[in-house]
Amino acid sequence: MGESKKETGMLLLLLLQALVMASELQTASAVETVVGTPFITASTSQFGLGIEGVAVDQLGNVYAVGFSGDGTSGIGSVANSTGEVMQKLLTKDQTGLSSFNGLRFLPASPNLPNFDLRAVAADVKRNSVVLLLRSKRDHRTRGSTFCKSNDASRHMKQPNDVAVAPRSGRIYMSGGDYGKVNTVVGDGDLWMCQAKSPFTETAVDGLGDLNATFLGHFGLTNGIEVSPDEKTLYLTESFHVAAEPYSNIIWKFDIDENGGVHNRQIFVNFTQLDDSGWVDLDGIRTDVEGNLFVTKNGLFGQTDKFHPNGTHLLTIQLPTIFETTNLEFGGPEGKTLYMSGKCIDDPDRGCVEVWNSTVPGRAWNELRSSSVTNTP
Ligand SMILES: *[C@@H]1O[C@H](CO)[C@@H](O)[C@H](O)[C@H]1NC(C)=O
Ligand SMILES: *[C@@H]1O[C@H](CO)[C@@H](O)[C@H](O)[C@H]1NC(C)=O
Ligand SMILES: *[C@@H]1O[C@H](CO)[C@@H](O)[C@H](O)[C@H]1NC(C)=O
Ligand SMILES: *[C@@H]1O[C@H](CO)[C@@H](O)[C@H](O)[C@H]1NC(C)=O
Ligand SMILES: *[C@@H]1O[C@H](CO)[C@@H](O)[C@H](O)[C@H]1NC(C)=O
Repeated sequence: MGESKKETGMLLLLLLQALVMASELQTASAVETVVGTPFITASTSQFGLGIEGVAVDQLGNVYAVGFSGDGTSGIGSVANSTGEVMQKLLTKDQTGLSSFNGLRFLPASPNLPNFDLRAVAADVKRNSVVLLLRSKRDHRTRGSTFCKSNDASRHMKQPNDVAVAPRSGRIYMSGGDYGKVNTVVGDGDLWMCQAKSPFTETAVDGLGDLNATFLGHFGLTNGIEVSPDEKTLYLTESFHVAAEPYSNIIWKFDIDENGGVHNRQIFVNFTQLDDSGWVDLDGIRTDVEGNLFVTKNGLFGQTDKFHPNGTHLLTIQLPTIFETTNLEFGGPEGKTLYMSGKCIDDPDRGCVEVWNSTVPGRAWNELRSSSVTNTP
């Protein structure tokens, strides 16, 4: 009797353990996995291995840097506003003095009637952010300095990427010494530039040579993005030893009324999440609900989606891409996510895959609404 009671107890315990394990498995598999659809492939691509900085303009066309295969000085289109492949040169640095890595569009301003396209590009060679304006007259796009450090003792490390907060008229920049074998705090940085007015109605005199404000030292910083309410800044940071990453974090900060950042908190620690701290993070983007999408610059093409509360919601696997670099929403309803990286079938070329979400991207939505209010 006593023995069989003990056995029943043991069985119950085993059953309980099995139930606990099953529920843990269920929690782990709650992250949905989907597969991207090839969009620009190795056989059709006009982008090189430097494909990066995916960005959407006011009309819904999607672009990337690294066009025409010669480093990162060319910017070309990826898709038109109806979501069809469109590979056309937008602009190319002819001087050899620029190397674009990050790209974001601003709405065309009614105060700039001669220009139909306005963008900012992170220029790694010039350690500044360049303003690109396309003239209606000759359809050519020209660059000028938009934002740089005027502090002789401290320059931007790159910048690597740029985020735009249009209503507050601010841009934020990441960057780091990517050649370094072992990295420490101080090898990466965070900067901000404040324009004189919001980007929905920037006056002509608000376009030039802004003075960048230094916001802090980090490890290597890369992906940078703001929340739809412009109250939160997201920033990726990695540390390397012997040229291999060992830590990858997404930080989250509160943005104050002057554009400064406070209350630094861990949004995602990838070592804790799924032991992938050794895979570098690259571009990040938010959608209109504030979900954050991050590209993983590793052996396999991958993008992860996080709820604003930090919960990992989705993994998008990209079968034709490795070393995923950046991403942005576009397409006819702004719900198509375009993700760039090196082509598996030809590592010297840049490939793009797409995945359809249920809600539009933040940039697509903001540019669309300002284009409505800006229509004369
Ligand atoms: C997009 O490209 C497709 C294919 O070239 C074309 O049929 C369509 O009209 C284009 N849409 C726009 C808005 O340009
Ligand atoms: C530019 O900002 C730096 C701090 O980053 C400051 O020291 C300097 O005085 C500013 N210069 C101008 C012209 O505002
Ligand atoms: C991330 O998680 C790992 C594993 O728990 C931990 O060792 C590391 O200190 C964490 N990183 C930060 C910045 O908290
Ligand atoms: C975060 O949001 C998800 C999705 O809505 C929800 O399932 C989860 O319980 C939330 N977690 C926290 C810690 O609030
Ligand atoms: C995504 O949605 C668009 C319509 O918004 C559709 O044209 C396209 O075929 C869809 N792409 C995929 C991969 O499902």
